[in-house]
Amino acid sequence: MEFSIKNMPSEHDACLVLGVFEPRALAPAWQAHPDTRRYVAGVLDSGDMDGKAGSSLMLRGVPAFGGERLLLVGLGKEEEFGDKAYLAAIRAAVEALRASGATDATLALTRIPVEKRSPAWRVRQAAMAACETLYRFDRFKSEKDGERPLKSLAFESEDAGAAAQALAQGLAIGEGVALARDLGNLPANVCTPEHLAQAARRIAQEHALECAILDQADMEALGMNALLSVARGSRQSPQFIVLHYRAGEAADQPVVLIGKGVTFDSGGISLKPGEGMDEMKFDMCGAAGALGTLAAAAKMRLPLNLAVLAPCVENLPGGAASRPGDVVASLSGRSIEILNTDAEGRLILCDALTYAERFEPAAVIDIATLTGACVVALGHVASGLFANDDGLADALLGAGEASFDRAWRMPLWDDYREQLKSRFADLANVGGRPAGSVTAACFLSRFAEKFPWAHLDIAGTAWKTGTDKGATGRPVPLLTHFLLARAGKLS
Ligand code: BES
Ligand code: MN
Ligand code: ZN
Repeated sequence: MEFSIKNMPSEHDACLVLGVFEPRALAPAWQAHPDTRRYVAGVLDSGDMDGKAGSSLMLRGVPAFGGERLLLVGLGKEEEFGDKAYLAAIRAAVEALRASGATDATLALTRIPVEKRSPAWRVRQAAMAACETLYRFDRFKSEKDGERPLKSLAFESEDAGAAAQALAQGLAIGEGVALARDLGNLPANVCTPEHLAQAARRIAQEHALECAILDQADMEALGMNALLSVARGSRQSPQFIVLHYRAGEAADQPVVLIGKGVTFDSGGISLKPGEGMDEMKFDMCGAAGALGTLAAAAKMRLPLNLAVLAPCVENLPGGAASRPGDVVASLSGRSIEILNTDAEGRLILCDALTYAERFEPAAVIDIATLTGACVVALGHVASGLFANDDGLADALLGAGEASFDRAWRMPLWDDYREQLKSRFADLANVGGRPAGSVTAACFLSRFAEKFPWAHLDIAGTAWKTGTDKGATGRPVPLLTHFLLARAGKLS
């Protein structure tokens, strides 16, 4: 797909996309021939298009209009028009264009003011939403979706300079999201720890990044026994991805992203119930999100230093698997009693957090499908945010608002530490039923005392269940906006 920016609408746009507010009012973004206006007004009066959010109507042969098609897209009520309705309209437009015979289209929707949002925001979000809508995962289908006629999409903007940069950013983020979704959607018999390591090498090659993959022997030599204890039940060998993107000053401390890469989480000996267990192939979406974010940052050439760490393992039961009650020595030197082998994410992340110390990071952000309890608390709307640093937390919350990939802050008070006390080791890996997402974060915080740190629990946001089951690519939009803001590139 070709994307571009247009300054002015033209009578010759092959397919022009216009917004309609409910009830039946054309959004003011267009100077058309009176005959065309009259015709469109007639269509609206006829009741064929009332402007309901998500609706659309394709018109052909419109009088005095030089182009082939006019697509009307519903925007909902004008007084309720905001971020959500704007994005829904872009998605509905792209969906309708994709299903149509149009080859080239211009969206005038990107000229419609959205409260508190800049023209650049409208274009960046439109590019991201278009990529999201056009995404397909049909690698394992014999019958593919096939070639579609749509070849080019232009966004109208009154601020062409800012819009060009915003478009490039939106497309880079869209690619990063698609990368994360592809990795997430792959089944666990394909997306193994070694597959993730290979994906990291490919990204490194494409963007000329430094890449090291630690194997089991490397991790044994380091003493990452918490991480290794999770991998023991599986025949898949664990892999620890280390990637560096260096486009900041040599002295700039890096931001370190740590992504949970459990390629399949059966629960281990503390086996999960069977229903819906297939979705535990998505338990590596933290790692996928970290990789997608890095790829997008590299594509945008953001002037900063960034590292990605991704501990990748498979959690299966087996003769060599960890048992409930086992005690392991983490890389930090602290001992952990594994009371539940299904609380494996924190076991691999704690060693990655300790490993991150060597980079003297400016900030460490871990991303993990960590707890079912977070889904209970926040559903599928917001990711859970935990942090030991208010500045970092606020920056991430702001990035979530800016990208419409939102997070909600949860408490990390040390009152919760009580729940992680172990009879036999320095700490236990589970804290009982109450506040499950908080005690999980609290566990991680014990390994993140040497740097500003935040944890995103994406258990409810990284994938969708039901008929549109699939990886969402979240929180790549949030994290890329965090980095854009940090680099001073958000307009
Ligand atoms: N990967 C799961 C968390 C999860 C579960 C995410 C369901 C999305 C949907 C994690 O490894 C896990 O199993 N967590 C346990 C922790 C418990 C044993 C303390 C959970 O949430 O049940
Ligand atoms: Mn688990
Ligand atoms: Zn898990």
